[in-house]
Amino acid sequence: MLNNFPLWPEQASPIAHRVDALYIFLLVVTGMMALLICVLVIFFAAKFRHRPGVRAEQIEGSNPLEVTWSVIPFVVFMAIFAWGAIVYFKERTPPADATDVYVVAKQWMWKVEHAEGQREINELHVPVGRDVRLIMTSQDVIHSFYIPAFRIKQDVLPGRYTVEWFRATKPGVYHLFCAEYCGTLHSGMVGSIVVQQPADYEAWVKGNHSGPLSVSGERVFAELGCSTCHRTDQQGRGPNLEGVFGKPVQLADGRTVTADENYVRSSILDPGASRVKGFPPIMPTFQGLVTDEQINELVAYIKSISMNQAPPNAKTSASVTAPQLRDKDQSTGSQVQ
Ligand code: CUA
Repeated sequence: MLNNFPLWPEQASPIAHRVDALYIFLLVVTGMMALLICVLVIFFAAKFRHRPGVRAEQIEGSNPLEVTWSVIPFVVFMAIFAWGAIVYFKERTPPADATDVYVVAKQWMWKVEHAEGQREINELHVPVGRDVRLIMTSQDVIHSFYIPAFRIKQDVLPGRYTVEWFRATKPGVYHLFCAEYCGTLHSGMVGSIVVQQPADYEAWVKGNHSGPLSVSGERVFAELGCSTCHRTDQQGRGPNLEGVFGKPVQLADGRTVTADENYVRSSILDPGASRVKGFPPIMPTFQGLVTDEQINELVAYIKSISMNQAPPNAKTSASVTAPQLRDKDQSTGSQVQ
């Protein structure tokens, strides 16, 4: 029904229906309130209008009335809050098995790198029904990756990664907008999300083959000399990076952080800030020596050498992390023996 209503963009992801339902609910509630107040203003203005010879009668407070008009809005607002929170968490939590796609924003274009190696500019091809996780960063100012048909929007920041995800439910071509004013050609920083049937997508993948991102990452890892310190035996001057991704890491300053994309990125650009416990501060910064694309490739490589390649989930619970840790301890233990 809403597809033919030009005020609404097409609904092409499961979250779109949820966002729209909440939005319509808000419109109806606020519309009804506005109508009620309007009607009462007119009604009371007529009922209590000035009449010659009639003295105004003062009305004192009424507790039942005040309790009613406090409790009912409270319940309505809490319902909106809970509903909104549910939709928000749904929208902000990528499924664990989502496919990673790296996005680099710059004035004024979107550069996209698929884990399988395809590169695109101002276009993103995805198969219908696949969970896609966008790992995004900016080379210059703040941009915002906005796909109205999927009802997702996320700021893209320089110096760190932000993440959003979607599952396209209908083949088609959908608008991609930059939704954060980023300079002269901000309004031209647009693109297309091309959602294809799986067979069409496979054909597109075959026609755009340039090798997996993790393989390019392995090359960069060797070229920059990372592999001389981050060795896979226990002899390296830096920590062994195998199996590290997505796991907790103990830092020299006592903190424990999860080795996610942002951790890998900041370790490359500002190694001193998150030095791993037990290692000397000898790693130089690679700021200015690697491009954002190369960092994405390195992240993909570090991911690929982690044992079960589980994408990092900020919300990984302790019960999930603990068995993985134990497995890892056992496997490194047996290597040592
Ligand atoms: Cu990029 Cu606006």
